[in-house]
Amino acid sequence: MCGITGFTGKQPALPFLLQGLSKLEYRGYDSAGVTLVNSKKLRTWKTKGRLSELEKVLSDDLDQSCGIGHTRWATHGVPSNMNAHPHMNRGNTISVVHNGIVENYAALKKELLDEGYEFHSDTDSEVIVQLLDYYYRKKPVMKEALMRTCRRLEGSYALCVTSVYEPNTIYVAKKESPMVLGQSAEGTFCASDAPAMLEYTKEIMPLQDGQFAILNKDSLEVFEADGRPAEKKWIHFPYDVQAAQKGGYDSFMLKEIHEQPGAIRETLRGRFRGTKVILPQIDKLNADWDSIRETWFIACGTAYHACIYASGLYQRYTGKPAFVMPASEFRYCDPAVGPHTLCIFVSQSGETADTLAALKLARAKGCLTIAVVNVLGSSIARQTDAVLYTAAGPEIAVASTKAYTTQLVLLHVLVLKLAELFGIKVKGISALIRDLKRLPDVIEETLQKEPVMKKCAKMLKDQRDAYFIGRQLDYPTALEGALKLKEISYVHADAYYAGELKHGPIALIEKNTVVLAMATQPEIAAKTISNIKETVARGARVILVTDEEMSAEEFKYVIRLPEICPSLRPVPAAVLTQLFAYYAAKEKGCDIDKPRNLAKSVTVE
Ligand code: F6R
Repeated sequence: MCGITGFTGKQPALPFLLQGLSKLEYRGYDSAGVTLVNSKKLRTWKTKGRLSELEKVLSDDLDQSCGIGHTRWATHGVPSNMNAHPHMNRGNTISVVHNGIVENYAALKKELLDEGYEFHSDTDSEVIVQLLDYYYRKKPVMKEALMRTCRRLEGSYALCVTSVYEPNTIYVAKKESPMVLGQSAEGTFCASDAPAMLEYTKEIMPLQDGQFAILNKDSLEVFEADGRPAEKKWIHFPYDVQAAQKGGYDSFMLKEIHEQPGAIRETLRGRFRGTKVILPQIDKLNADWDSIRETWFIACGTAYHACIYASGLYQRYTGKPAFVMPASEFRYCDPAVGPHTLCIFVSQSGETADTLAALKLARAKGCLTIAVVNVLGSSIARQTDAVLYTAAGPEIAVASTKAYTTQLVLLHVLVLKLAELFGIKVKGISALIRDLKRLPDVIEETLQKEPVMKKCAKMLKDQRDAYFIGRQLDYPTALEGALKLKEISYVHADAYYAGELKHGPIALIEKNTVVLAMATQPEIAAKTISNIKETVARGARVILVTDEEMSAEEFKYVIRLPEICPSLRPVPAAVLTQLFAYYAAKEKGCDIDKPRNLAKSVTVE
């Protein structure tokens, strides 16, 4: 979602601001802007569209050493020059960029209108700068004006403020929207996500909820909401700048698809000793495992599909009840959970607003909470009882790929650990662990099918719809395959349990309809195959993904997965669906890394 950068230092701020915003482009945006400060005035440029449009309107004399920048993803008000950030107060002395949503903006706006303030945009964010102006006029101390403003804001915010009153200073505040700080020989800076800074430093300080910071050329102070100095907690980011670049691939998505063998290898590193699962973070919980009656798996989008997979495994391995629900539903469904419930939250970014809210609810109800997260030090990672990190590295493409497969793998390991803690012996665990360790090679082999998936994707050239089907552990793969295709190629795609087809959806199957069928689970594959035949009989073109053994002579397009335990087949199968979606989008000339209307990290409800 929106990107923020801020810089104050000994050299011009603009290069940092623009390179940072371009590193955050993957989060999705529709307009961009910057403010540069000198002692007398603020100079602000903003445009609808891409950063390249902004660069076109920037005039000369751009060497000011303090500034803030923003890329906006519209929530309140259409994408336009007027609604783009930064927003200024009357008199153009204070400038603000904001990510998040000010939920009480209408009430605040009314109050400020009554005070004689004028508004120029349709955004919720503009109330922040007007409120700051209001408090600053009452008492011209920016730190206090910011604290008073933040106390009035309901909802979420990550914001940066700069002003002519302190032309080398940036004020930063955060609540439920990510913000990280950094410092180097060049200056002091902030951004809404770490990739914006990796060229400048790898030591990053995530600002915590409620905290604010004051950035000067060579100082960085952090405060709690009440103004007390806060402890500074630095995190070393192990990723290099390369990891956030395309490295010869034509898109981040393709690069990330190909990074999966390495990402899975890293995620699995050191997780087993013999058949014992090594997850010290879970051991340290010292929980009363016998008291856990049921487990909930909660997430959004792709991560939710990983949860469906994990809940299937959990029931199979532990024999205990598991529930799975999108976070956006969980938070409002008054779930029957309590101290006897384990809640597992899954998130690539660790900042998804719905997942975070669901986590807070689970904690308030006394549940034991575990997170499976990719981004180090993110909000979800910090607020659970235990966190396990997937080692996917930075995922830049909006459409999730390596984050998904590493989630499948790490959730699998976690479920095995839970079975161990419940004192349950999982049948065939030695073979399973052997195959988990082989998974990176299996994915490598699966990637060799790229030309076949490219050819299959051509079938979608003139199609408006596609269907993905599967049963049991193949069902989340069907859901994820359909989501991927929709997201990046804009082909309408639906996923169904294969057995459900004849209860309605089969009415949609006609000559040449494309069906991607997953039949990788031996105990149910034969049933899935007969469901597929029902679609073939109605003219569908079926691409069948199955194992090495299944007899499938009657199907024209059969893609066989390398030999591996059935419960792990959804991992290579997902890779095939990613390639299918990628080539379908390429065929249609879509902007693969930045699909329309989508944002990488959904930090608003
Ligand atoms: C789809 C995709 C989204 C995310 C969802 C949750 O490709 O990336 O569906 O999975 O927005 O995001 P995280 O995992 O960051 O909580």
